[in-house]
Amino acid sequence: MDLAEKLTHYQQRVDSYLDQHLPKERIAPENLHQAMRYSVFTGGKRVRPALVYMAGHALGVTESALDAPAAAVELIHAYSLVHDDLPAMDNDDLRRGQPTCHKKFDEARAILAGDALQTLAFYVLSQQTEQINALKMIEILSLAAGSRGMAGGQAIDMAAVGQSLSITRLENMHIHKTGALIRASVLLGAWTAAKVSHAQLNRLDHYGKCIGLAFQIKDDILDVESSTEALGKRQGADDMRYKPTYPALLGLDAAKQMAQEWVADALASLADFDDKAESLRALARYIIQRDY
Ligand code: IPE
Ligand code: IPE
Ligand code: MG
Ligand code: MG
Ligand code: MG
Repeated sequence: MDLAEKLTHYQQRVDSYLDQHLPKERIAPENLHQAMRYSVFTGGKRVRPALVYMAGHALGVTESALDAPAAAVELIHAYSLVHDDLPAMDNDDLRRGQPTCHKKFDEARAILAGDALQTLAFYVLSQQTEQINALKMIEILSLAAGSRGMAGGQAIDMAAVGQSLSITRLENMHIHKTGALIRASVLLGAWTAAKVSHAQLNRLDHYGKCIGLAFQIKDDILDVESSTEALGKRQGADDMRYKPTYPALLGLDAAKQMAQEWVADALASLADFDDKAESLRALARYIIQRDY
């Protein structure tokens, strides 16, 4: 299987697990469950679940043991996008080629859908009865989503609107708002393994850290260079909202160069892994090559 086939395979796998675990639309409160399902199932590349599966695969874990953490991280991601798009935050009306949750429904529903998606993520992790590291996984995901992770990064982002940040502060913002969840995805996959050494964990963690940063740099680049049709979200939104980004601070060429360097660093971190880590390597390259 090449990377595209693998991504499709993991997408289908996590979607089927998510479908089983998200309450059906006919279950009360219907309006909330509709908004939750809408926010999860209208597209999305499923990069974070793929990372969970791929990191697990690199350590010989079976796919079925990875479904719960893969779904959990996508639920947190889906919630983060719903809230990120709200009028009080990025105020976007297009996401994954569809109206954003608050546009499709209303703001109250979007806020509550985000809240409920977030708690569902931890519920899903808590239900892994066979998994001795379930509690560790809850720790990893809660830290990555919270004030020292994604939510903290979003707070830095909101406070930085209209400012010109130093490269160090911009990097810190990206590491938190996007990098934390990507790094957690890799760690969740790794902690699913029955046996993983400290050295392996450290190397995978470094890989996750590097691709997490590269991912948001590329997201910033795509906001400048891609199109609304390809992205499924409004092209040029960062510039319009005076967001500090890598292209704004460094220019496009230097931003691209930097993303490439982080990916090279990520690949170097996997040097001691065998062929089972090939998907992780391919995904690192894909992160900066993707066009949406
Ligand atoms: C977009 O993430 C938001 C960021 C954190 C950069 P993705 O590019 O993974 O969005 P989807 O899930 O594929 O829609
Ligand atoms: C998103 O960053 C970070 C999140 C935690 C959701 P952006 O605001 O750049 O993401 P997009 O471009 O709206 O997807
Ligand atoms: Mg944002
Ligand atoms: Mg946004
Ligand atoms: Mg963006």
